[in-house]
Amino acid sequence: MKQDITTLWDLPEKRIRFLLERALELKSLARRAPVLAGRSVGLLFDKASTRTRVSFEAAMIQLGGVPMFINAKDTQISRKEPTQDTARVLSRYLDGLVVRTYSQNFLEELAAQAGIPVVNALTDMYHPCQILSDLMTVLEFRGGLNDVRVAWIGDGNNVAHSWINAAAILGFTLVLACPKTHLPDGDVLSRAREKGKGTISVVHDPAEAARGADVIYTDVWASMGQESEQKIRQKAFAGYTVDQRLVDMASPDVLVMHCLPAHRGEEITEEVLEGERSVVWDQAENKLHMHKAVLEALLLTWS
Ligand code: CP
Ligand code: NVA
Repeated sequence: MKQDITTLWDLPEKRIRFLLERALELKSLARRAPVLAGRSVGLLFDKASTRTRVSFEAAMIQLGGVPMFINAKDTQISRKEPTQDTARVLSRYLDGLVVRTYSQNFLEELAAQAGIPVVNALTDMYHPCQILSDLMTVLEFRGGLNDVRVAWIGDGNNVAHSWINAAAILGFTLVLACPKTHLPDGDVLSRAREKGKGTISVVHDPAEAARGADVIYTDVWASMGQESEQKIRQKAFAGYTVDQRLVDMASPDVLVMHCLPAHRGEEITEEVLEGERSVVWDQAENKLHMHKAVLEALLLTWS
């Protein structure tokens, strides 16, 4: 049966751990075998992207395959062609589909109707591949994921939701500091607490989350699609900037992470983003290695 990644819950813990190890292995290889020669993967994107798009495209090329970028706005999806028809037709042309869109329901419907693996490259609700490469970065710098305390500081958004899923599946400690007006989704939290094994808490004081943290993670205050709320959000998130004062409260070897793009002076200061605890550039690089591991696993190992 094909393996989709619509959320991290699609992946059993052992498959997540396999991807983390394989991505680290692929990163260390000087030569890459063209194991995906003759395969093509569509990148169906309806939102902007620099890192996810280019790293998936580069990953496919480096593995010998062909990526095909498809701007969703140029397709019949924008003229309301039924999702099931799009899914069935694209499955006749391609070996896999990587999708960035607004609606998680649309993505899940595509996955349900497609005969090929479908990968979530960000929706309004989740960004699972981001967290896979972030976990790889934590593993790379810390050597393990046991006893890791991750502090999420900012919006309870799509990236936060995937961190919640990861903490539940892998069993680490996640403390999210969010304003009461911008909390993570209640259903995402309940499912994680009911089915998962991590310790997940939500607080409203960034210092409480940062104290003793091994990872401090933040993301933009207004995600794609929320541009009109930018001003309201700047007020709601006052006091949530990741600055040196917060970093100094964390573990001395804390990793400062940000999925990027960053808004310097809003959710993170320039000093911290460019500071000695920041791993954001390695984190961005690791998207390439993780996406190779994902493509290889979905198109070959698990197909
Ligand atoms: N982190 C991330 O997903 O970046 P892009 O929006 O540039 O793909
Ligand atoms: N939360 C951000 C992540 C960008 C990679 C957004 O959805 O725009």
